[in-house]
Amino acid sequence: MCGIIGYCGPKPAAPILVEGLKRLEYRGYDSAGICVGNERVLQLIKKKGKLQELRQAVPADMLGTYGIGHTRWATHGEVNDTNAHPHFDADGSIAIVHNGIIENYNALREKLEDEGFIFRSETDSEVIAFLLGTLYEGDLEQALKRTCRILKGTYGIVAMHKDEPGVLIGVRNGSPLVLGIGEHEMLLGSDVTAMLAHTKQVIYLEDGEVVRLTADSYRTTDLRDRDVDKKVDYITWELEEIEKDNHRYYMEKEIFEQPESILRAMQGRLDRDSATAHLGGLNMTNRELLEVERIKLVAAGTSYHAGMVATYLIESLARIPCSAELASELRYRNPIVERNSIYFAISQSGETADTLYAMRELQRKGARVLGICNVVGATIPRESDGGVYIHSGPEIAVASTKAFTSQLTALYLFALLIARMRDMSYEQGLVFIDALEAVPEQVRAILDRHAEVEALAKKYAHAEDFLFLGRGINYPVALEGALKLKEISYIHAEGYSAAEIKHGPIALINESTPSLVIIPDDGLREKVISNMKEIKARKGPVIALAVEGDRDVAAIADDVIYVPRAHEWVYPFLMMVPLQLFAYYCALELGRDVDQPRNLAKSVTVE
Ligand code: M6R
Repeated sequence: MCGIIGYCGPKPAAPILVEGLKRLEYRGYDSAGICVGNERVLQLIKKKGKLQELRQAVPADMLGTYGIGHTRWATHGEVNDTNAHPHFDADGSIAIVHNGIIENYNALREKLEDEGFIFRSETDSEVIAFLLGTLYEGDLEQALKRTCRILKGTYGIVAMHKDEPGVLIGVRNGSPLVLGIGEHEMLLGSDVTAMLAHTKQVIYLEDGEVVRLTADSYRTTDLRDRDVDKKVDYITWELEEIEKDNHRYYMEKEIFEQPESILRAMQGRLDRDSATAHLGGLNMTNRELLEVERIKLVAAGTSYHAGMVATYLIESLARIPCSAELASELRYRNPIVERNSIYFAISQSGETADTLYAMRELQRKGARVLGICNVVGATIPRESDGGVYIHSGPEIAVASTKAFTSQLTALYLFALLIARMRDMSYEQGLVFIDALEAVPEQVRAILDRHAEVEALAKKYAHAEDFLFLGRGINYPVALEGALKLKEISYIHAEGYSAAEIKHGPIALINESTPSLVIIPDDGLREKVISNMKEIKARKGPVIALAVEGDRDVAAIADDVIYVPRAHEWVYPFLMMVPLQLFAYYCALELGRDVDQPRNLAKSVTVE
């Protein structure tokens, strides 16, 4: 979604703003702009399309050492130069950038229009700038605070005024805003990647907090102007981690990083002596864990699929009822919070609005909500009652890959921990640990054979529809495989339980609709083979994902992608990786923009 960058310091602001926006590209956007202040003049440049358009429009010698920049992901109004941010107030004295949605913008706009103001854009954000202009009495910070009392909705806003040179004011309500503290320079960003090249010291603003910054100072207050003491955090990510290295796309890099990222998620957390896992961040005593009678996993998209996998595992190993639910649905159905239940909010970014709001609703009802997140210091981990960081390192590609397998790892560790406190024996615990510890090398072996998947992608990429089929714990993997393919290749794909096709989807099967069928060597193998035969009987092409040496499958399927033999619990990891590769190579074959697919955003911070 939209990205924000602000800079105050001794250096020319324009290149720093454009570079910051480059780092934010991964969030998804359709236009970009910057505003730089110099000698009481605000210079504004906005362009529809990719950042390259903006870069070309910015003069190399643009003067001014403070300014704001924005990448817009359109919500209100079409994609064009005018609707791009920053937005000016009526007379061009104030410029703002905004992330979020102003819910009462229509009423505010009508009122301002009645007073004679003429808006330039169709956006909700421009209303903020105009309102700010009407409330300005010589102090931008106070004017912004007055404005916020009128606004309804979500926002991260950064504002500047031509008569307050070198000053930026930021405010947060529902959309993330981070202050970066550098050497005689300050930055504001919607996430830390925008400022990593300049500083690692950051302050995360909370809702209702305002920051006033100059090159050498910052002051944080609340909307009632009371000082707020803030802790300075340290970013653990390295700049190199957000570079592409020699990979064509971030998605490729992230898929190939999985042996290491899965290992990182389990490192230091497995205890062979006790055949269990240690997850100190849960903030729960053994007694509290023992009292858990129900577990619910709440998430969106890929994170939801990781949660679905975990429901099979936790119920089987720990014998605790466990279910996964879409955060967007849970929030609006007045959920019942049962005694002795715990919730997990699973989110790579830790900023997904649906998941965050569901978490807050659950907490209002007294639930204990734990986070499973990647981005340290994001809103969900900050507001949750405890949790687990998955330590995947930055995930830049819109399509989530390494975060999925690291989320699985964290959930598998939790399953082990809670199962060992119940019926799982010491020996069974050790078998589970062996299986999990083998995964990174098994994933590496799959990645080493990526060329085979690439060849299959080339063969099938021009099909218009795909089915992804799996059963049991691999059913969510089928859903995730279909999601991966559709989001980056734009090919229509549906994930189903293999058993379910005879209840409807089998009508879609014909010679040009391939099915990817997941067939691990587990208790459901024979049944999935029967499902595959049903497809072949209707002339549907089948690409099977099977265990090395499975001749029965090879005899029926048109093509087979093999994965190493493993413990049946860990096949979701091994089956997922070839599906990620398949989606990636199909998208390449079709010439898609793999890292920034159309209409999508990395971090979905609006409902
Ligand atoms: O940051 P989150 O894990 O909360 O994001 C949730 C979804 O928006 C995300 O997984 C989305 O489905 C990805 N584009 C999938 O690749």
